[in-house]
Amino acid sequence: MAQTRPAAATAPNDLESYWLPFTPNRSFKRAPRMIVRAKDMHYYTAENRAVLDGTAGLWCTNAGHNRDPIVAAIKRAAEELDYSPAFQFAHPAAFELASRIATLAPSDLNRVFFCNSGSEAVDTALKIALAYHNVRGEGGRTRLIGRERGYHGVGFGGISVGGIVNNRKFFGALLSGVDHLPATYSREHQAFTKGEPQWGAHLADELERIVALHDASTIAAVIVEPMAGSTGVLPAPQGYLQRLRAICDRHGILLIFDEVITGFGRLGYAFAAERYGVVPDLITFAKGVTSGAVPMGGVIARDGIYEAFMRGPEHAIELFHGYTYSAHPLACAAGLATLELYRDEKLFARAKALEPHFAEAVMTLKGLAGVLDIRTVGLAAGIDLASRSGAPGLRAYQAMERAFRDEGVMIRVAGETIALSPPLIVTEAQIDEIVDKVGRAIRAVA
Ligand SMILES: Cc1ncc(COP(=O)(O)O)c(C=O)c1O
Repeated sequence: MAQTRPAAATAPNDLESYWLPFTPNRSFKRAPRMIVRAKDMHYYTAENRAVLDGTAGLWCTNAGHNRDPIVAAIKRAAEELDYSPAFQFAHPAAFELASRIATLAPSDLNRVFFCNSGSEAVDTALKIALAYHNVRGEGGRTRLIGRERGYHGVGFGGISVGGIVNNRKFFGALLSGVDHLPATYSREHQAFTKGEPQWGAHLADELERIVALHDASTIAAVIVEPMAGSTGVLPAPQGYLQRLRAICDRHGILLIFDEVITGFGRLGYAFAAERYGVVPDLITFAKGVTSGAVPMGGVIARDGIYEAFMRGPEHAIELFHGYTYSAHPLACAAGLATLELYRDEKLFARAKALEPHFAEAVMTLKGLAGVLDIRTVGLAAGIDLASRSGAPGLRAYQAMERAFRDEGVMIRVAGETIALSPPLIVTEAQIDEIVDKVGRAIRAVA
């Protein structure tokens, strides 16, 4: 191919080489939003401008940024054990972290499989579900059920069960044998609700329709986020998850909660499963497990699922799945230090205690020009803006730009929704500050 890159691109730190994920690359490179360091609730730009973190990074830095105990633990681990093979060998911190996570998870969700991201966690959970039915002699259960507006990462499994058109339409036929529940959101019935909306539990019954269509004997698992985060903070309607659980039980279908966002405190509990009093068969996690400091993800399985695999000759591998970096020593060290911080600073309880103040504060934005709906749950909020005609997503994008450059607050946008999800160390005053700044940014793009 002809060499067309400008001469400047040969410089060691040009902007051309890096292809940014989920980012309009040309706009970014014209006016980069660059972060050079962070501490607690703030990022800092190259000009040393502080930017308040309204989103816990990408829903991950739940303990705040660059916390000393996590940094120290990573440093120690790097000096002690850089790597040991994840297959056929292990290191003690992997067991310790798995045990601690099992303690936090509800009921008999006691078995932890590690990977490196939420996407890998989702694909791992889907594969465990399929293999579980297979080893039990129900190999005909191959269908996977997701939900419209669901986000389960970007692996082929995740985009297949996911329900976001742009994440799916460019990538071929995806997995076969996938069906979708309807999204749980209706502005008409739920607008400006704090917490779980009253309307919508009946949408779980759509699973019965799907079962009637395909027959339960062909369905392996249903995967849902207890609160759909990436498509704009859609909390589960009251009673919805309980109803899904009951239908899955009736038909021998596994229920997977994708807790990549809701895990580790976002809704005021270690896992959202606890908030809703519903025990899924598998939980995926990532993000908050290390407070974003080192990539890590995983799946927590109920005892019975793990035990179903523990048959056959003892020298033989039970599950043909895993990653070179499963339970990486640095990630385990970061995870252990993070869970200690959560415990010592009671950050899950803190999120729960802050929920009413957070909800009140964000709801004050109701009535601003262009605000169509606001939803809150735990320490998460979605604010829907009206689209500019002919340019969907532009107003929210402009609000994000404005918030970052002029107000000094980082917000996240998904389509025409602003999402807020501050670190759990946020103070009431900082919540008010975030909301004030976001309000000004929204007014500026009205
Ligand atoms: C519910 C859910 N599942 C999976 C993922 C994918 O995680 P990752 O980006 O670490 O692959 C995300 C990311 O936001 C998520 O919100």
